[in-house]
Amino acid sequence: MILFFKTHHIILLLITIHAISHSKVQALKALFYPRDILPLLPRQVSWPILNTLNNAEDLLPAFVGTATTVENHLQWKGACFYNNSAWLEFHNKSKTEFGGGTLHIKVRNAHSWTCMDLYLFATPYRVTWDYYFLSREHTLEFKEWHSKSEYEYVKNRGISIFLLQAGMLGTLKSLWEVFPLFTNTNWGENSNVAFLQKHMGATFEERPKPWVTNISADDINSGDFLVLSKIRGLWGGFETLEKWVTGSYAGHAAVCLRDSEGKLWVGESGRDNEQNLSLSEILVDVEKRGSSFGELLAVPEQDNWVYVDGKSTSCIAFVFEMYKEAGLFGSLSSAIQVTEFTIKDAYTLKFFENNSSRLPKWCNDVDRVKLPFCQIRGRYRMELPGYNTMDPYPHMNERCPSLPPKYSRPTGC
Ligand SMILES: *[C@@H]1O[C@H](CO)[C@@H](O)[C@H](O)[C@H]1NC(C)=O
Ligand SMILES: *[C@@H]1O[C@H](CO)[C@@H](O)[C@H](O)[C@H]1NC(C)=O
Ligand SMILES: *[C@@H]1O[C@H](CO)[C@@H](O)[C@H](O)[C@H]1NC(C)=O
Ligand SMILES: *[C@@H]1O[C@H](CO)[C@@H](O)[C@H](O)[C@H]1NC(C)=O
Ligand SMILES: *[C@@H]1O[C@H](CO)[C@@H](O)[C@H](O)[C@H]1NC(C)=O
Ligand SMILES: *[C@@H]1O[C@H](CO)[C@@H](O)[C@H](O)[C@H]1NC(C)=O
Repeated sequence: MILFFKTHHIILLLITIHAISHSKVQALKALFYPRDILPLLPRQVSWPILNTLNNAEDLLPAFVGTATTVENHLQWKGACFYNNSAWLEFHNKSKTEFGGGTLHIKVRNAHSWTCMDLYLFATPYRVTWDYYFLSREHTLEFKEWHSKSEYEYVKNRGISIFLLQAGMLGTLKSLWEVFPLFTNTNWGENSNVAFLQKHMGATFEERPKPWVTNISADDINSGDFLVLSKIRGLWGGFETLEKWVTGSYAGHAAVCLRDSEGKLWVGESGRDNEQNLSLSEILVDVEKRGSSFGELLAVPEQDNWVYVDGKSTSCIAFVFEMYKEAGLFGSLSSAIQVTEFTIKDAYTLKFFENNSSRLPKWCNDVDRVKLPFCQIRGRYRMELPGYNTMDPYPHMNERCPSLPPKYSRPTGC
């Protein structure tokens, strides 16, 4: 795990804060026009925009998109620079197994000569940041990908870019709120929980121990939908931002499949995975070691997990591509674009068992609260607002703005 700061930047910011008086901070802030932050996004308008700007509590970074190798794909409008673009170039300057990359960032059309934009760049394996106050092309070096997993991730999904609130105080506040999310400590976990409570209204009720359900793999069928949520470590911090961006209460999804011999598999995409995973093989293995299926789901940060296709697809598009092929959308199939789905769109679909007496016996065995789905493990009760409530309709989710903090969703979008 790498979480690094550019020390000279930190020092610069701190010194600057000390050097300017309160009134100067006010003056500096007045140069910024927060409503200009609205990023110009290529495909969807669904990315978060700071739309409660009057509330200083909500000075959070805005997700501008993911930079890929396609040169003019990602363009957006910053607080300071109105015309920005970014793309990624893979290289092997380090002569290492997976090589590294250069992120090119072009910032243009500053609205004043004193302003600057500050960005966070994240993969599930690292977070870094940089700021720009000159109109030109800048680069950010990734000397070496941390692992094959990071390399695969970046190749398929790119590097996520977040724009921090302009203005020194807003920036520091954003950093203060965002950086702890990525630490693999109790502080990190508490920060993730606090962030999701504050910005998404999540509740995080603790479940009774043991936090693991003794499941029976025989009750798992083809098509069963798995969602995972991490709230700790680099992946946890990354998921927290993704959840906040999309309004989803889960960070990753996969699907269970049985082959013609009845062998159970987990099909997934978009995570750090490299081979197909036979769930039943692993089940046999974990049972031998006297642990449970739940522990399997606790291991996703290993390098040797499933990744099947090499196609650029999010975890949820992968699952829904499969549901579509399987005919779950019936005659609507040709009017459903699964690449537009978020994990939230997935679990709100009315595709799941609606009669709790038909859920497996072990489902909510250990908990007095009976959820309408099965929670396999976890300290906190899984929350999936709107679970199993929405009938599919043609072109669903193709025009949903769904922005934090309210995530309002016009009907029929
Ligand atoms: C941004 O800059 C690029 C390159 O100069 C230009 O092609 C594009 O039209 C500009 N976009 C806007 C919105 O000004
Ligand atoms: C980078 O170069 C090294 C040494 O020449 C080589 O072993 C490695 O496979 C290369 N990596 C990539 C991703 O091309
Ligand atoms: C799980 O269930 C099996 C069979 O129902 C039982 O033999 C085993 O002891 C249980 N394990 C735990 C940890 O409860
Ligand atoms: C899993 O996928 C790999 C690569 O796609 C393939 O070579 C292998 O045969 C698959 N494993 C099984 C058990 O199907
Ligand atoms: C439950 O789902 C079935 C199958 O989709 C449907 O026929 C039934 O009306 C649903 N029941 C309720 C109470 O929603
Ligand atoms: C739920 O399922 C049980 C068992 O299959 C059945 O007896 C019951 O009528 C169902 N309830 C509803 C509301 O469909």
